[in-house]
Amino acid sequence: MINLKNKTFYAAMLASGILAVSACNHSSNQQKTSMTDSTTQGQLPAASGFDKIIDGKAVKLYTLKNTKGIQAAVTNYGGRLVSLLIPDGKGKTVDVVAGPGSADDYEEAKGNYYGALIGRYGNRIGNAEFKLEGKTYKLNNNDGPNTLHGGKAGFDVKVWDAKQVDDHTLELTYLSKDGEESFPGNLNVKVTYVLNDDDAIEVHYEATTDKPTIINLTNHTYWNLNGNGSGSILKHSLELNADGFTPVSNTLIPTGEIRPTANSPFDFRKPAEIGSRVGEGDTQLKFGKGYDHNFVLNKHTLQTPIAKVQGDVTGIMMEVFTEEPGIQFYTGNFMKGDYKFKGGVKDAYRTAFALETQHFPDSPNKPNFPTTELKPGQTYKTTTIYKFSAK
Ligand code: BGC
Repeated sequence: MINLKNKTFYAAMLASGILAVSACNHSSNQQKTSMTDSTTQGQLPAASGFDKIIDGKAVKLYTLKNTKGIQAAVTNYGGRLVSLLIPDGKGKTVDVVAGPGSADDYEEAKGNYYGALIGRYGNRIGNAEFKLEGKTYKLNNNDGPNTLHGGKAGFDVKVWDAKQVDDHTLELTYLSKDGEESFPGNLNVKVTYVLNDDDAIEVHYEATTDKPTIINLTNHTYWNLNGNGSGSILKHSLELNADGFTPVSNTLIPTGEIRPTANSPFDFRKPAEIGSRVGEGDTQLKFGKGYDHNFVLNKHTLQTPIAKVQGDVTGIMMEVFTEEPGIQFYTGNFMKGDYKFKGGVKDAYRTAFALETQHFPDSPNKPNFPTTELKPGQTYKTTTIYKFSAK
């Protein structure tokens, strides 16, 4: 386990914050979206749209269901969560996963990581390099000067080996060879999706290595609790149990500071509309073109939810439980309407949000952040759960 569960440590980090000042280099990208009712209705995409060979391996769509009739679909292309059908309590079934509906459409949109498992290192590594045990590792930079979500060909574009264990369990495995994307060590990864009878989807991550390495796995599902293709998420309400966040430079690399969320647009400790303060002109919101920041979670056990989000139209509520110390809250600021989603709608600006549970970005270069190192003999093990209900 490399989970960090030390409250005193966080309190000290909050107290020792420094302010980052840097120029804004993003332009805004507004785009209108429309409500397409048919896309919010509950149907899994056709499995045939996923029957494809990629890199010599068979891609498929796998279906999970619980005894309450909830269904999910996962593809082994990037281990992506494709659909999750949730009843809204008023007779409608809503697909709360925003994203493409076929392997071709996922390939096309791969730069946006829709629904994907992310590795070896979720989020950014500054200047595409890190030092480990005295050696400098130079990575591929695929986001300006930085490495994002594992580099040029991360886990999101790999075809995972899949084993459907039972109706509600899918096991995905992948061997990332020593030197893949310049990361050290043969890394054996197993991710298990479980759709349980509490109407929750559990994501269990496990990995081992044969050389010292770094690791930060996450899932990059884009959610819209009003339904795929149902328009902006800015009126969803969000509650996030985080007293601090990690401010970033203009290339979205943490400065090292842990800044209090209090008295800022980053304070979601009481439920607030996602869009209520996004236009306030805060320098950090300019850098991210909106929210694209790592929050430092007050708790990270599977007992208490650290985030609660509710769709304003459907009333569907998602609670997130995690063992990870951080979460990236991303409001789809780089969605541009270039790609196709299920139902033929476009991936328009801010029509989905992501809550990526994680260790902090750029941890390998930030000695004051919880470590992301994994050594031979250790097992990386972490779970995140997304639980649904209709209010
Ligand atoms: C990042 C964004 C990035 C997005 C890619 C998020 O996790 O924080 O900056 O654009 O992933 O889809």
